[in-house]
Amino acid sequence: MNSIYQEIIIDHYKNPRNFGQLKKYDKKTLVSNPFCGDKMEMTICFTGNKIKDIKFKGIGCAISQASASMLTEYVKNKKKNQLVKLDKNFILKILKIELSPLRLKCALLPLEALKKITK
Ligand code: FES
Repeated sequence: MNSIYQEIIIDHYKNPRNFGQLKKYDKKTLVSNPFCGDKMEMTICFTGNKIKDIKFKGIGCAISQASASMLTEYVKNKKKNQLVKLDKNFILKILKIELSPLRLKCALLPLEALKKITK
């Protein structure tokens, strides 16, 4: 793992952006990683077709937390139809690291929550 990207991931893990639960939200979802049992909750608030605010919470490894932190930062103010293209490759692109199949499940957990909550 490239150390600069490792540091970015650790920073997002230690200081997750958009961590918590929105006081007022339009939708809430809960997903879990069947391999480790970690759970992640996501709350979202829309303005028309746009994501006005989004938060996540839960306990998970550095990869899942960093992925959620980066993903929620990215999608704020995006339109729902802009989220359709977000997939595994997008997550790998923002994390900028190579992942084993098990770690990939961790990284994709926030995307699963986002897809569920925005459909
Ligand atoms: Fe549980 Fe990564 S080990 S989410």
